[in-house]
Amino acid sequence: MQKEDLDFFRKWFFGYVKQFSSPDSFIQENIDLKIEHTGRVCKNILLLAKSEKVSEKECILAEVIALFHDLGRFEQFMRYKTFRDSESENHALMGIKILNKEKILSRISGKEESLILKAIEYHNLMEIPENIEAFSKLHFFTRLIRDADKIDILRLACEEYSEEKKHQNPALELYLPDTPGYSESIVSEILNNRMAKIGDMKNRNDVKLLRLSWIFDINFLATFSLLKDYGYLETIMSFLPETKETNLLRKHFENYLNSMEYGAGKKETKS
Ligand SMILES: [Fe+2]
Repeated sequence: MQKEDLDFFRKWFFGYVKQFSSPDSFIQENIDLKIEHTGRVCKNILLLAKSEKVSEKECILAEVIALFHDLGRFEQFMRYKTFRDSESENHALMGIKILNKEKILSRISGKEESLILKAIEYHNLMEIPENIEAFSKLHFFTRLIRDADKIDILRLACEEYSEEKKHQNPALELYLPDTPGYSESIVSEILNNRMAKIGDMKNRNDVKLLRLSWIFDINFLATFSLLKDYGYLETIMSFLPETKETNLLRKHFENYLNSMEYGAGKKETKS
C-alpha cells in the first residue's frame, strides 16, 4: 500500500461521512464527535507505531485501520440513535459490511485488505481472540488499534467530565442514570486487574470505573506513557465520588500504573 492509497481512503472517508450531516444538533454533535475521534485515533496510532519503530509502509497500514475502525458508527447512530452495540448492532461489523459493499479496499493487496478488516473486527471485542497467532502482524496491529482507540475514548470522557458542558451528551454516558454507588461486579473485576463488563454498568460511576478498567488491557508501554502525559486517568479518577471504596480503587489503579511504568507488569509489549 502506498501513500496515495491512504490519501484516497481519507478523501473517501470524508465524502462518506458528509452524507450524515444533519440539521438536528443532537445528531450533528454525535457525528462530529466520531469524525474527530477518528482523526485523533489516526494520530495516536501513528505515535504508537513510531514508538515501536515500524516501517513507513506499516505506518500507512496502521493509519488506514484507524481511519476505518469506527466507520460503522455513523450508520449506527443514524439508524438507532445510540452508540450502544447491545441495543443496536456491532459497529465494527457494520463498518466491515460498508467497506465490502463499497469495495473501497479493492485497490490494495488481498493480504492487506484482510488484515485491515480483521483488525477492525477485533478492535471492540472484550479480548483479542486466542486463535490469533501471538506476535503475528495481525496480532500487532490489533493491539495497536485497541490502544489508540482507548486513549481517545479516555480523552473524550475527560472532556465531558472536566468541561462541565452546558449540556451533557447522554449518548456518551450510554443513557445511564447519575445515581450514587457502583456495581459490585465492576469493583471486583478491577480489584482482580480485569476489564469491567459493559453489561454490568448500572450508573455513571460505573461508566467511569469501566473506562478506568481499560488500563488492564493496554498493550504498549508507549500507551502508558501517553496516558500519563495527558493525565486522563487522574482526571477521571478525580470525578469519582470520595468514598472509602473509591479511595481503595484509586490506590489500586495507581499501584498498577506504577508497576507498568517500571516494567514489572505481566503484559508483553514487544511486537
Ligand atoms: Fe469502535
